[in-house]
Amino acid sequence: MKVLGIESSCDETAAAVVEDGHRILSSIVSSQVAIHRPYGGVVPELASRQHVKMIIPVVAKALQRAGLNMTSVDGIAVTQGPGLVGSLLVGIGVAKALAFATGKPLVAVNHLEAHIQAAFINESQPSFPVVALVVSGGHTNLYLVRDYGNADLLGRTRDDAAGEAFDKVAKFLDLGYPGGVVIDSLSRKGNPQAISFPRAYLEKDSLDFSFSGIKTAVVNYVRKYVDTSKQNEASTPGVSGFTLKELPLPVADIVASFQEAVVEVLVEKTFTAAKNFKVGQVVVAGGVAANSRLRQKLLDGAAALGLALNLPETELCTDNAAMVAAAGFHKLKKSDIPLSLNFDAISRWPDKVAGS
Ligand code: KG4
Ligand code: ZN
Repeated sequence: MKVLGIESSCDETAAAVVEDGHRILSSIVSSQVAIHRPYGGVVPELASRQHVKMIIPVVAKALQRAGLNMTSVDGIAVTQGPGLVGSLLVGIGVAKALAFATGKPLVAVNHLEAHIQAAFINESQPSFPVVALVVSGGHTNLYLVRDYGNADLLGRTRDDAAGEAFDKVAKFLDLGYPGGVVIDSLSRKGNPQAISFPRAYLEKDSLDFSFSGIKTAVVNYVRKYVDTSKQNEASTPGVSGFTLKELPLPVADIVASFQEAVVEVLVEKTFTAAKNFKVGQVVVAGGVAANSRLRQKLLDGAAALGLALNLPETELCTDNAAMVAAAGFHKLKKSDIPLSLNFDAISRWPDKVAGS
């Protein structure tokens, strides 16, 4: 079964064709990074406008790369949410129009469920139940996944998502956008043990996360550093004032230590969930799963604990439509799923279950 997937929940316009949930025939992603860079974050209005501009060419390219047209596609899957409503509506509108015009079945997919699915595309069948960590710019959720589209939420962030913390710290340090990628590469030059930033484990046995404290600790560290430098300046006549950029701030050590604190908590809680629920397989997905330090620690930890670990390739971690097509395939396969064009974008999905 060849499924056309469409994704437009945030700042990537994406379309892909995936066969039987496993074989990627094409995957096209049009990134809006350059458009949002000057603002240091995604501007929803600009995102929707760019989706409108790119969605048809991106879908056409995905079909062309796969050597198909709409007649030879067996079904369509589109991201329904969570995400930016104006962005979601662009993908949903096009998916509905294609389904209406061709009579092909259309399924709506949860973006987080699709992220989990990315971990199974190039792999053999998962041995359910598995523990899944979805860690992105908008979410840090731990799930017990019982089957395709059937997951219980075990824990989630109580404040910032991990990716959001990466982005905010990078913005504060004026390192560029998107922050996660910059911090990942800059951290390679730093010492992850240089500064001991707090790890928020919360109450005993809690599988929830909290990252706003680590972010604030970075801000406080820098402020203290600036104050100390100013005092030194005052006692050194003739030294001029300075900006953050001019300070000899140990930026690589700061970001490496920040990253270490975030990664440690993510890894620890994920493996604790696997232990608590006696699960032998763990998957980690979403944009932050592209982080090299997180991947290394997960690989080392899984090997030490004898756990099977699914880590999607980097391009499948960040937003893409192959994951949507793969998740859609498993829904389309279930013949009892009612197919209808009568669904709307869901900005904030109810917490309990990843799937519908
Ligand atoms: O899944 P995604 O592409 O979009 C959302 O659904 O949010 O994730 C984007 C997030 C951003 O916060 C970005 O900074 C982060 O993933 N990210 C990374 C890395 N690559 C992307 N964070 C840390 N290290 C990376 N290598
Ligand atoms: Zn995402």
